Amino acid sequence: MLSVIYVSVADPKLATDDIMALVCDAQRTNARDELTGALIYNGQNFMQLLEGPVAKTEACLARIRADRRHNGLIEIRRRRITEREFADFSMLYSPLFRDHDADLSRLAARGALDPQDERLMTNFLALGRHGGAG
Ligand SMILES: Cc1cc2nc3c(=O)[nH]c(=O)nc-3n(C[C@H](O)[C@H](O)[C@H](O)COP(=O)(O)O)c2cc1C
Repeated sequence: MLSVIYVSVADPKLATDDIMALVCDAQRTNARDELTGALIYNGQNFMQLLEGPVAKTEACLARIRADRRHNGLIEIRRRRITEREFADFSMLYSPLFRDHDADLSRLAARGALDPQDERLMTNFLALGRHGGAG
């Protein structure tokens, strides 16, 4: 399987309802495509982990990359995996993950992981074990 984490810049016109619709659609499509993962959003940037069978993950990433609801997508982690990190979530969305809003903005602006992102990444990946709201 393949696991990819990316950051991107959200369309500033997106409203809360748009995010909810996006997540709802993603959950349905991902369940069909054997994909799992998580999405966080700080009002400006997205960070998403998407994992699953290689071809399906790549195909979904290609659709996401072309989606006009965001731009400037940069992959910050890509690896082959044998076990999923978000096995229980077709697409976990945590609106409570706001402690790291500034960290996510900084990471998205830098476009590459840095030692100072360790806490953000640890807490993000921990959502896969402890769940989140929604
Ligand atoms: C930030 C973001 C995350 C997305 N995550 C997913 C996802 O996990 N799965 C998915 O199928 N589509 C996701 N989408 C939507 C896709 O970009 C695309 O609209 C959807 O797959 C339908 O594609 P289609 O109209 O070509 O069938 C996401 C879009 C955005 C902007």
